[in-house]
Amino acid sequence: MRIIFLGAPGSGKGTQAQLLRAHYGIAHISTGDLLRAAVAAGTPLGLEVKAVMDRGELVSDAQVLGLLKERLAQPDAARGFILDGYPRNLAQNAAFAELLAELGQPLDAAVYIEVPEALLVERIASRARAEGRADDSPETVRNRLAVYHAQTAPVVEHYAAAGRLKRVDGVGEINEILDRLKSALDDE
Ligand code: AP5
Repeated sequence: MRIIFLGAPGSGKGTQAQLLRAHYGIAHISTGDLLRAAVAAGTPLGLEVKAVMDRGELVSDAQVLGLLKERLAQPDAARGFILDGYPRNLAQNAAFAELLAELGQPLDAAVYIEVPEALLVERIASRARAEGRADDSPETVRNRLAVYHAQTAPVVEHYAAAGRLKRVDGVGEINEILDRLKSALDDE
């Protein structure tokens, strides 16, 4: 099964992908986690992208595509994957479509987790207090949301227009949302 998770910052993509990874026995690939790992390890890429991430902007398409290709080549991705946080703009979506065509691995589902903005801000503020993630400050969150509306929402519209988008209500308890996702995906 090959799935992409679309949704605004704080919509629960990472939380749900982690749970579904175990359920379906496929890889959870988060481009945000890959980038944060590069920053934490102080790799040349990590040093380049840290400031961009701290401002809540998107890292360059080429840098993210490079990381994604490396990750998809790892054995656990052979059985399928949930991609969380990619594609993030229309150019990434086009590059991703090309990559999947090259690999002969078509996408099974594009899932959009819908959460009202006030709740997104509340969830991220709560994580900021608990974990202190570098890009969870109020100012950066505003920018991440603006970037989402300008660059990622068109990807959601693209899949909706193609009749390929599964919309899932992302409000409620984590397990309740997980059940909604499983029902949506079990139709595949
Ligand atoms: P990324 O790591 O992808 O962050 P994001 O999309 O902003 O998403 P979040 O991690 O904030 O939210 P999420 O939807 O995963 O929700 P989560 O489950 O964590 O990207 C970070 C940065 O990396 C970007 O700004 C960019 O710079 C760069 N980047 C990444 N991908 C890129 C790409 N493709 N191209 C270019 N740049 C890229 O949940 C949020 C919180 O809410 C958690 O604390 C969670 O515990 C809680 N929560 C979840 N569900 C519930 C619930 N049902 N009820 C209550 N709390 C909940």
